[in-house]
Amino acid sequence: MNIEPSSPLVAQFRDLIADRLGLQFDETKLGNLARVLSRHGGKDMPAYLAMLAAEPERSEVLHRLAVDLTVTETYFYRNFEQIQAFAEVAMPACLLARGGLPVRVLSAGCASGEEPYTLAIAAREAAGLGPGSVWIRAIDANPAMLAKAGSARYSAWSLREVNPAMRERWFARDGELYALNDGVRRSVRFEQRNLAQEDAELWAPDSYDIVFCRNVLMYFSPEQAQAAVARIVGAMAPGGYLFLGHAETLRGLSNDFHLCHTHATFYYRRKLQADEPAPAMQAGPPAWTEEPFRPLLPNDPAWVDAIARAAQRIDTLAVKVPQAAGDPAEAQPDLHHALSCLHKEQFEQSLALIEKLPQQYADDPDVLLLKAVSLSQSGALSAAGHICHALLARDELNAGAHYVLALCHEEDGDNSAALAHYRSAVYLDSSFALARLHIGVLERRMAELEAARRDLAQALILLQHEEPSRLLLFGGGFPRSALIDLCRAELAALGVSP
Ligand SMILES: C[S@@+](CC[C@H](N)C(=O)[O-])C[C@H]1O[C@@H](n2cnc3c(N)ncnc32)[C@H](O)[C@@H]1O
Repeated sequence: MNIEPSSPLVAQFRDLIADRLGLQFDETKLGNLARVLSRHGGKDMPAYLAMLAAEPERSEVLHRLAVDLTVTETYFYRNFEQIQAFAEVAMPACLLARGGLPVRVLSAGCASGEEPYTLAIAAREAAGLGPGSVWIRAIDANPAMLAKAGSARYSAWSLREVNPAMRERWFARDGELYALNDGVRRSVRFEQRNLAQEDAELWAPDSYDIVFCRNVLMYFSPEQAQAAVARIVGAMAPGGYLFLGHAETLRGLSNDFHLCHTHATFYYRRKLQADEPAPAMQAGPPAWTEEPFRPLLPNDPAWVDAIARAAQRIDTLAVKVPQAAGDPAEAQPDLHHALSCLHKEQFEQSLALIEKLPQQYADDPDVLLLKAVSLSQSGALSAAGHICHALLARDELNAGAHYVLALCHEEDGDNSAALAHYRSAVYLDSSFALARLHIGVLERRMAELEAARRDLAQALILLQHEEPSRLLLFGGGFPRSALIDLCRAELAALGVSP
């Protein structure tokens, strides 16, 4: 039986899927959801939906749905840099912490097995590691993908990032396909599990040293992604490593990790909790800061939005600052005014207004960011840098703090440190136009011309859509049109006519 995408039954189906599988579908996908509901719900869709709502956690019904609803794209050695960081940073550090016992790896959302098998191969290929160094558990909700993983036979397309010598070492030709080496195959255990559900055994404390959860959470609703990350955190060893897809970040999802940056890629390392002894591993990369973590706005239910929109929060705070009795003019400093002073390059006034804030507001991350911007633009680089480091000690995923720190390094002539922080800023917030613009300008200066063309072209698009409040905060006093002109001029100098 067919059903209209606008039917309330489809809306109910969409909510149930988000709740049971974590997957979020926007309005444009309702037609597809209607088709899937018709196929699975048969003649009595309300009864089917009632059954779905009542099904126990590991139901066959859900798994059958996962076959039709999940995106399963994957291949061997996807994001090669992350595999290098796994083999050269995470594995050695975790082996040390484990005192030589196998490192426990979870591939969460493993699809047809290419990811966990890649990790098994990488552990065998890496100098100083070996077959016994790693134990890999791989889970997915889609039984069709797990069946393919079990057969361990792959097309040339799946192996497109594997070089011929490695293909020769780890695969044998089997007609049109390539059959994986038996030893590698046996080193991965596949299980049908649902990342969106509680599961005491799967998420038992201290179960995994390294977790790969790549290109899975991007399909989840924000609430389910947050809940899944919380389960992962709870199941990880102190100091363990988490790899997300290269376009995914933990920003707004968790503050339980340090951000790591090596091999031109980003990944995370679980922070130690107050009562946890430091593991015997110190071979990992330096995190941006080792200062103790203080939670960001822990009681504010809107914190996810708040950190995503730092500049906008300054507006909110400006409204929230209370008026003290006695001296209204002194007690109600105006952050709009501070921002507008910044825009007019009246840095001292802007700083004076910030200084007048009551302590509770002066400590707010976004006010601190405003202060850091004012300081950096007035030339007080070391004071600005100090505030950024303090901000990053509280929240390493603060894209604005990375950006201002990058400005300070750039001003100081340290282009590679500047680039590293600008790259962190765009990794954490891919729509951050000004950070992308600076990356392009620096790349041109450093004669990385192809990269400069790509980044400046992207900056040009982003600048046209950047939030006005963010341009005001980070734009160095330049209006949007001037920044766009600058970007165009940089592109023209690179021979691109935008
Ligand atoms: C795009 S693939 C990613 C594969 C691999 N991690 C990679 O990056 O190449 C996403 C996988 O997540 C799985 N998945 C989606 N929702 C899931 C859930 N709730 N529980 C377990 N796996 C899920 C899908 O079945 C799919 O195989």
